Amino acid sequence: MVKICCIGAGYVGGPTMAVIAFKCPNIEVVVVDISVPRIDAWNSDHLPIYEPGLDDVVKKCRGKNLFFSTDVEKHVCEADIVFVSVNTPTKTQGLGAGKAADLTYWESAARMIADVSKSDKIVVEKSTVPVKTAEAIEKILMHNSKGINFQILSNPEFLAEGTAIEDLFKPDRVLIGGRETPEGAKAVEALKNVYAHWVPVEQIICTNLWSAELSKLAANAFLAQRISSVNAMSALCEATGADVTQVSYAVGKDTRIGPKFLNASVGFGGSCFQKDILNLVYICECNGLPEVANYWKQVIKINDYQKNRFVNRVVSSMFNTVSGKKIAVLGFAFKKDTGDTRETPAIDVCKGLLGDKAKIDIYDPQVSKDQIQRDLTMKKFDWDHPMHLQPSSPTSMNKVNVVLDAYEAAKDAHGICILTEWDEFKALDYKKIYGNMQKPAFLFDGRNVIDADKMREIGFIVYAIGKPLDQWLKDMPAVA
Ligand code: UDX
Ligand code: ADP
Repeated sequence: MVKICCIGAGYVGGPTMAVIAFKCPNIEVVVVDISVPRIDAWNSDHLPIYEPGLDDVVKKCRGKNLFFSTDVEKHVCEADIVFVSVNTPTKTQGLGAGKAADLTYWESAARMIADVSKSDKIVVEKSTVPVKTAEAIEKILMHNSKGINFQILSNPEFLAEGTAIEDLFKPDRVLIGGRETPEGAKAVEALKNVYAHWVPVEQIICTNLWSAELSKLAANAFLAQRISSVNAMSALCEATGADVTQVSYAVGKDTRIGPKFLNASVGFGGSCFQKDILNLVYICECNGLPEVANYWKQVIKINDYQKNRFVNRVVSSMFNTVSGKKIAVLGFAFKKDTGDTRETPAIDVCKGLLGDKAKIDIYDPQVSKDQIQRDLTMKKFDWDHPMHLQPSSPTSMNKVNVVLDAYEAAKDAHGICILTEWDEFKALDYKKIYGNMQKPAFLFDGRNVIDADKMREIGFIVYAIGKPLDQWLKDMPAVA
């Protein structure tokens, strides 16, 4: 029986391994992590991450051919294929600070693999890493190999959170990069055989190592660039009276462009986009390509601009001050159907409002109070370290309340900011909400989920990203 071990039981490792176990009953899969609470949660009825369909898949395989353990060394030693899916934070100090990936966790995982291995292994990069990481890891493994043969593969994961199980069941493609040697080709074939249990072989793309690593960064950069492009248009739409939804619909009808990923928003978030682009920028700079680096930097700049612009709209519409005013924040996760808050635009928006001395009440159906407090007090980039290295008791903030439903958040508020596109926000009783708010009552829709005209009929003053502006907002400065 082929044995797989995955180091790192996070958003990528957990769901990916669960699906491999589900689709390959003849393979034993063990997911290991240094975090005891995380592994305990994977072994309980309350999985550590919220992902539609995941519970079902885990329940069907756990204890049969899917196991979660903290005994990292034992399971790495026994495995034929070791996936590595550990944190790759952005460096905050030293060479490449603010851009380059910090490979501390990767390096320690690689050294441990070399230490405990007694048989040949295929080591698979699963977490996104900067191009040429495989080469570095290969060097660590080779120099410590004691005669054991290690083959390094790059197998970047393209799943998106909220649709992880769907994406893993029906991936657009699986990408496997390996060394162009007979041993490399054999290793690629072995991994291909795992995916071939459910993915049509023509959708399994095999490349060299560097192409696979770079393709992942490039794919994320292209996706983020689409969002920054439509968000840049949203500012122009507001200035000119066009409607960004109509513009992106018309643009997306061009089959060369396509309709997906053209929703204007308060900004993109998530653990990958910003980090991967910063990485790409760093790689370009290191390779003497400042023009290329600046091109991609602009995608992040527009994203930051969009979040600032939103805060400025809120403050300027409310008579240029939100000091002491209660603002309801609906949604904190970086997108719907996930409890993940990594790099969520809600963090910057809330910090911006708090900077103007607002009092905020936050409601998100999947994000805990602890998490929100941790996010609002944590330093930039600190989120991407293993949980046990993050501050354990989040600092509570006296101007932030985390509440259990949207109605409570909006009670007596001067304004509402919708920051995540949760379906339930479309179905709220906005008449009731309006009735319980201070007047004039403002509604700022950062995700274009509500029907702005209906809200205006109720009495709200509405701002929706990229939509024609209310008379009220027309004379207010959009950018400070
Ligand atoms: C992304 C990639 O999609 C995935 O392939 C990769 O493996 C990891 O990074 P993820 O971060 O989970 O996945 O979510 P995604 O659906 O890509 O959304 C990222 C951010 O962009 C979210 O904040 C989302 O709200 C925002 N977004 C997305 C928009 O603002 N507009 C859109 O049209 C689409
Ligand atoms: P991703 O979104 O890429 O899955 P996460 O941060 O959710 O990233 O998961 C990474 C996991 O890797 C964390 O649970 C962390 O505890 C774990 N981890 C980091 N370093 C090691 C290591 N050396 N051995 C085992 N697990 C590790």
